[in-house]
Amino acid sequence: MMDRRKFMVGSGTAIAASAVGLGAASLQSSKSAASTRVALKLQKARYKINTVFTENMVSLSPDRPPPVIWMDQYAPFAADVTNGLSEYTAMHWHGIRLPNKMDGVPYLTQLPLGQNDTYHYRFTPDDAGTYWYHPHCMTMEQMARGLTGVLIVREKDDPKFDADIPINLRDFRLKSDDQFTQLFTMKGAARGGTKGTVITANWRKEYQESAPAGGLVRLRLVASDPTRNYKIAMAKSDGKVIALDGHPLSKPWSLPTEAKPLILSPGQRADIALVMPREEGKEIVISTMLGQRARTLSRIRSKGSSLNRKLNDLRPLKPNPLSVPDLKKAELHEFVFGWSPDENGPNNGLCGSMEFTFWSINRKPWPGDAVKDTGPLLTMKQGRSYVLRLRNESPNHHPIHLHGMTFITLRSNKRKITPTWSDTVLLGRNETVEIAVVADNPGDWAFHCHVIEHQKTGLAGFVRVE
Ligand code: C2O
Ligand code: CU
Ligand code: CU
Repeated sequence: MMDRRKFMVGSGTAIAASAVGLGAASLQSSKSAASTRVALKLQKARYKINTVFTENMVSLSPDRPPPVIWMDQYAPFAADVTNGLSEYTAMHWHGIRLPNKMDGVPYLTQLPLGQNDTYHYRFTPDDAGTYWYHPHCMTMEQMARGLTGVLIVREKDDPKFDADIPINLRDFRLKSDDQFTQLFTMKGAARGGTKGTVITANWRKEYQESAPAGGLVRLRLVASDPTRNYKIAMAKSDGKVIALDGHPLSKPWSLPTEAKPLILSPGQRADIALVMPREEGKEIVISTMLGQRARTLSRIRSKGSSLNRKLNDLRPLKPNPLSVPDLKKAELHEFVFGWSPDENGPNNGLCGSMEFTFWSINRKPWPGDAVKDTGPLLTMKQGRSYVLRLRNESPNHHPIHLHGMTFITLRSNKRKITPTWSDTVLLGRNETVEIAVVADNPGDWAFHCHVIEHQKTGLAGFVRVE
């Protein structure tokens, strides 16, 4: 299935992320070596999503999707990110709790990277699970052109799946000739976001993969699209949802169905444990609902003679070492997400802005990443617990994302919530959701809507932990 190519690391040699075969290309360090080191170079790419090459994509190799990056829990990770593009960039590791300097947010944690600049990202992930990476400067442009990749932190205790299949879900805005059309529209930015025209999984219209018959498979779904809420459904399969947004569910959920899909909003992930059909050549189909219609994202076909595994063979995933908020002592703060149109756009310096402002947090639109002394939305004391009441005053959806810390979603005024650990929570129309967090990571942490057009037209800011 996946290319388990090993890289010799540590010599300082640049390793181009190009040496892999399938859509789900992967960069994996040698099993024996605990630490991982990769060299990633942003560059232009061309790729056949459909039948002809789509030009002007952005990736980390000339002709592949961004690779899956694997690392080990509690082991050092090093990424030397070089900007091979003529525009600026910075790389962000979504959902990973890391030192502030490594977070990849331009002006807040580092300067934007110019052409041929390299930034040495270094961190040791304490949390295992499914995460992702994407640029945080020229974000709209570079993400729309394809630069969103899956990041996997392997559990210290191997849960022993027979196959591991990362699926990166995203749209592209292509015309009928498979070339890019206008990446974002003002109308989209002002409302629910600009949707793509082609839905893909691992840069394919329909991603095909195989796995051992009767084997236990770990599917990792990553919603890396800047706009779309995926409504995941799986036709009668044997399995469970075992993790959300990187973190194990204390009680696994049943598989989503067409009637009760699993919503993954921009930035979110789900890990699903599946038992493959025992018979060779049978398929498991993963879809997203478009209204009442199921659109196939991926098909996994059973291969070989049955391994006869059962869901019960799986050891439950160990919880990550997160700080549990003390709800009795937590301080409550409210954030209001709303509509605040203004004909002046934010000033993001070298990192790309839109012409207008549409959105705000606490009725103040973010003046732009490059504006000095904007100040934090909230200053939190290190080690203290907080409840953040997130209130959406608009009819549009906002997946609200916090950097650097992991929170618990507590409750909503609109739907029943099972509390889960997360870094991105979806607010629907006029929905209020409360989250709880321990301010356990010092620094300035971006806090924004993950519909990137909303982020770039005012729905952004940061919180400080000191
Ligand atoms: Cu996934 Cu601030 O971003
Ligand atoms: Cu993030
Ligand atoms: Cu939004």
